[in-house]
Amino acid sequence: MISYAGITNPFGTGAYSVEQNSKVLRRYRYIHEQLFRLGAGQLPARAHWHLKAALGKHLYEDAEAAGSLRWRILELRTSPMLLQKDPNVTLTLLFEELIHAESDIELLVGVYRVMKPALLKAYTQHMTDTQPLVDYPTVRLLKSLSSDLREQIEWGEGMIEALQREGESLELSAEFETRILGYLEAAGGISGEHGTSTHVPARWRSGNVYEMPKQAVRDAKRMGSPAMGRTAIPNLPDDPVQIRLIQMMKARQEEMSAVENLASVIYDLKLMPWEFYQDLARHLWDEVRHALFGQAALEAEGIDWMALRQYVGGYDPIIGKLPAQRYALLSIGFEEKAMRRPGKIAEYEFCRDDAKHPLMERFQDYDWADEVTHAAFGRKWTPEMFGEDLDYVRQVAEVDMAEREKFFQAWAKLQEAEG
Ligand SMILES: [Fe+2]
Ligand SMILES: [Fe+2]
Repeated sequence: MISYAGITNPFGTGAYSVEQNSKVLRRYRYIHEQLFRLGAGQLPARAHWHLKAALGKHLYEDAEAAGSLRWRILELRTSPMLLQKDPNVTLTLLFEELIHAESDIELLVGVYRVMKPALLKAYTQHMTDTQPLVDYPTVRLLKSLSSDLREQIEWGEGMIEALQREGESLELSAEFETRILGYLEAAGGISGEHGTSTHVPARWRSGNVYEMPKQAVRDAKRMGSPAMGRTAIPNLPDDPVQIRLIQMMKARQEEMSAVENLASVIYDLKLMPWEFYQDLARHLWDEVRHALFGQAALEAEGIDWMALRQYVGGYDPIIGKLPAQRYALLSIGFEEKAMRRPGKIAEYEFCRDDAKHPLMERFQDYDWADEVTHAAFGRKWTPEMFGEDLDYVRQVAEVDMAEREKFFQAWAKLQEAEG
């Protein structure tokens, strides 16, 4: 059709008034925001490396989805106050239960078999039901969210199948799946179209408030044991340039530990402005990408990186500190400092000029670009987190960096002693 800019059926009234549309979109906004927080809360507790990586990507996409929905909702004569609200008590309960997933398979089933497919179905229906001309901005938004959802669901199914092939039983997650489905139905489905049940389901596991794990989990079945500090890579070549290059690859792969630190900051801080969470979601996903740069570089060299000890020193030793300190340590202590020579530029130049390694040159080029953004995030948010100026934050980060250095030296000594 070439009339109406290709928009079909401009004559129907469609199902949603502005007010009704805003109400439903507020549920979508809430669900994506909760999925984002869930991903952050669960990431350090999950074992499988591929799951950690995908959680990082998907929580970033959920934060972006929530952000876009917020804009659209405000265009629908809606007060920004309503963006702070939980739309429905049973939906709140659903997410309080979902975060209590106790295994990779439970989380996978709850998110990728229950919540995400239900969202996709609701968006498909919404796009059919709404008036396509009057509500074009929503249609365009839901179309792009659906495309992300399809990829996420496909990934989730693939991951579940892979775990099953490796002997994981779906029976272990059957009750979790049924419970989450039950909460969703009682909440009236994604958009509330079925009406909320007057029988509010009972709490299951959520009587205890979920807390971030005290130790970041690494996959005991497939990986070397967790290590608080940097560990040796066996069978390194004699050439110092090659040694530095491979250590740099491993250091990139170890950035999953920075990811987990960011996840804890997101989860533990509940009341920052929304923009903060979108920035941190981006920051977090960038660090996942950096870890995957390292993975890809090591795999391209044929190095069995999974068998090596797995660094958790960016999370375990500092999880007891305040979220503001954890974020300042990373974004000001490390990332802002890496903007000065030698820093990130020297890593890039080394890969380009000394190691002459095209893949690592490309990775470090973008790693450096990402880090410029991260240092800016740190300068933007840490003063607000501390209620002090940037100079104060830099001094706090210095103190925490020095303490960290001592901790690592003690750890390294202990390793030596244990031989
Ligand atoms: Fe990084
Ligand atoms: Fe970074």
